[in-house]
Amino acid sequence: MKTFRPERTQRRRILRAFAALPIAGLPLTTLLGALARAHAEPAAVSDAALTAAAQILNVMDFEPLAKATLPPAHFAYLATGADDDQTVRLNHEAFSHYQIRSRRLIDVSHADLSTQVFGQPWTCPIYLSAVGSMRAFHPDGELAVARAAGAKSALMMLSTVATTSIEDAIAARGTPVWQQLYTTDDWSITQAIVRRAERAGSSAIVLTVDNLTGRNNETLERAKRVDTRDCAQCHVSDFAGYTRRKPMLAGLDLSHATELSPLNMSWDFFARLRGVVSGKLIIKGIVTAEDAALAVRHGADGIVVSNHGGRDEETLRPSIDCLPEVVAAVKRRVPVFVDGGIRRGTDVFKALALGATGVGIGRPYVWGLAAFGQSGVEAVIDLLTRELRQIMRQAGTPTIAAITPEHVIHG
Ligand SMILES: Cc1cc2nc3c(=O)[nH]c(=O)nc-3n(C[C@H](O)[C@H](O)[C@H](O)COP(=O)(O)O)c2cc1C
Repeated sequence: MKTFRPERTQRRRILRAFAALPIAGLPLTTLLGALARAHAEPAAVSDAALTAAAQILNVMDFEPLAKATLPPAHFAYLATGADDDQTVRLNHEAFSHYQIRSRRLIDVSHADLSTQVFGQPWTCPIYLSAVGSMRAFHPDGELAVARAAGAKSALMMLSTVATTSIEDAIAARGTPVWQQLYTTDDWSITQAIVRRAERAGSSAIVLTVDNLTGRNNETLERAKRVDTRDCAQCHVSDFAGYTRRKPMLAGLDLSHATELSPLNMSWDFFARLRGVVSGKLIIKGIVTAEDAALAVRHGADGIVVSNHGGRDEETLRPSIDCLPEVVAAVKRRVPVFVDGGIRRGTDVFKALALGATGVGIGRPYVWGLAAFGQSGVEAVIDLLTRELRQIMRQAGTPTIAAITPEHVIHG
């Protein structure tokens, strides 16, 4: 059992400071400076001994542990929203405006959380949504997440800008993962990523459409200023340098591409993509009925209602509030997924009641990853699953199919 102790966090931070430095060729004074800076940063957790991942009470309790473990700029990369971070907060707060209508005297001795997505069995409707650069949070990054997903039979969506290739993620997961897709302004790059993912066995391509170039992440920018490490040692700011470090883009000729998620992406692009994706094509980042209808018309196999965890735009419109209009427009023709602010089993329950087929989480499993590695991710999945099972029993819904719009009201 792993114990979370501030002093251990401090030691880990020091080791990380070293690990983050390309040590070869650096003068000793630079290394000693990094060590001194790591020592100077106070640990944020004051509890004498927070015990292992399995004893954490709820997924939100992982966040301060992640904060205490991570360098300030890495934590801020995870936490940041756009502008004033209000959409990040509202994504979760909005769930408190939905109340659960529990039914009584229904046999719930067997609560069955399993469901079907695209004809495939899922043990639980909760999946791990795409998060880029996960080695910024733990040395094992996506591999630890994939192993946890495998251990818990949860679906994993791998980011285009992951620090692990899809081949390695699938090997660690044990079964196919979904490949999230960021495009560039060079069509051949898009085609190459799709082909590689499908060759590796990816069962779905998920095109993200809400993350246009040039977003305003002030929380991240502020943290970079107080982070005393030399970020330039690891991070190259230009497009070519950035993409060279991403396994899904490495080896591709990026000389004709200038940006990820280009500003001129349109429905024509989606139609063209539909033509080359032979498996399922899902569109992530839809928040209106109009776009949901267009997505179905253009051949999308699934829709993810998402505002990218509030990181891209300060719309003040929580994704759970966008779900009902999308579900209504889709009319059951394709499955609708949702992510953003899911922190409790009751949040999952409400999303299912409002018509979601699957419910994605982002930051919570990364908090678990940062604090405890693979076991932290597993604990996050376990906690949400346990809470979901509990509310299903309480609400008189022994199966996922039994959860209906009648089980929730907006107050
Ligand atoms: C640090 C971080 C990186 C992310 N990277 C990606 C990404 O590469 N591709 C993508 O489609 N979504 C990305 N997302 C968005 C998530 O897939 C998901 O939509 C969001 O995190 C859900 O909100 P939540 O964090 O409140 O659970 C990222 C989110 C975070 C927090």
